[in-house]
Amino acid sequence: MADDNKLHGKVAIVTGGASGIGEAVARRFADRGARAVVIADVQDEKGQNVAASIGADICVYVRCDVSDEKQVKNVVESTVEKYGRLDVMFSNAGITSLAEQTILDFDFSAYEKLFAVNVKGMAASVKHAARAMVEGRVRGSIICTASITASIGTDRVTDYTMSKHAVLGLVRSASVQLAGHCIRVNAVSPGAVGTPLFRTMLGLGKEVDLDQVVEGCSRMKGVMRGRNVADAVVFLASEDSEFVTGHDLVVDGGFVAAA
Ligand SMILES: NC(=O)c1ccc[n+]([C@@H]2O[C@H](COP(=O)([O-])OP(=O)(O)OC[C@H]3O[C@@H](n4cnc5c(N)ncnc54)[C@H](O)[C@@H]3O)[C@@H](O)[C@H]2O)c1
Repeated sequence: MADDNKLHGKVAIVTGGASGIGEAVARRFADRGARAVVIADVQDEKGQNVAASIGADICVYVRCDVSDEKQVKNVVESTVEKYGRLDVMFSNAGITSLAEQTILDFDFSAYEKLFAVNVKGMAASVKHAARAMVEGRVRGSIICTASITASIGTDRVTDYTMSKHAVLGLVRSASVQLAGHCIRVNAVSPGAVGTPLFRTMLGLGKEVDLDQVVEGCSRMKGVMRGRNVADAVVFLASEDSEFVTGHDLVVDGGFVAAA
């Protein structure tokens, strides 16, 4: 199959697809031949604009707060109803800690809000995508966005770091449980990408040049972009990774290899 058509005919959901890494992945999925890409997010205007710029014939925006299981179930069911099947779930929506969240000053209500999106939302997305794939007898691919913070300790954002460790636990357990149905579950773990989430996490003002900061977080020269993560996600979504499951694909320019 031609390189630019690796996702030919596939139906995909991208949570958190209105911005950043999710937006880059939605665009890549469409470029690589997907039949339908459903963006599930809570930023209506941004999501609608991204969908329109990809093309109304391929991409639609649906409002979905992933921390509410019912909304996740609805977006999966409406996708299957409209397109007949679900091949790929990119469960990517996430938020960062809004304060330092060191353990000495840990705020449990902030932790609960973060876990509702980053952990519960991820599990709900995997659950309902897997159910649709099992029911439809689809050899599907589920990809969750973890992070390099899933594999290391951090000096702050403790709740975010905990949530990304949890994502790997979810991916590994789901991959074991779903392998018998030929459904693959993998994680992608980006290093730094200059998105709104990254700016908030580091507390950087609008005047700060994100590219410079991002380049400093990679051992390779150059600025890593959402599209670099998207290429890894396309690999995991396509038949090129037919027997890859339970894996954490780190895309970070070598940052954690020496940690
Ligand atoms: N940017 C980085 O450096 C980096 C590194 C590692 C991992 N990540 C992870 O990548 C994922 C995407 O983040 P990003 O950097 O592209 O940030 P981003 O802020 O650009 O995008 C996140 C998207 O998720 C959406 N979202 C937030 N809460 C939601 C909810 N409850 N329901 C549905 N959608 C919701 C937001 O509206 C936004 O569109 C996150 O899981 C993040 O933790 C980011």
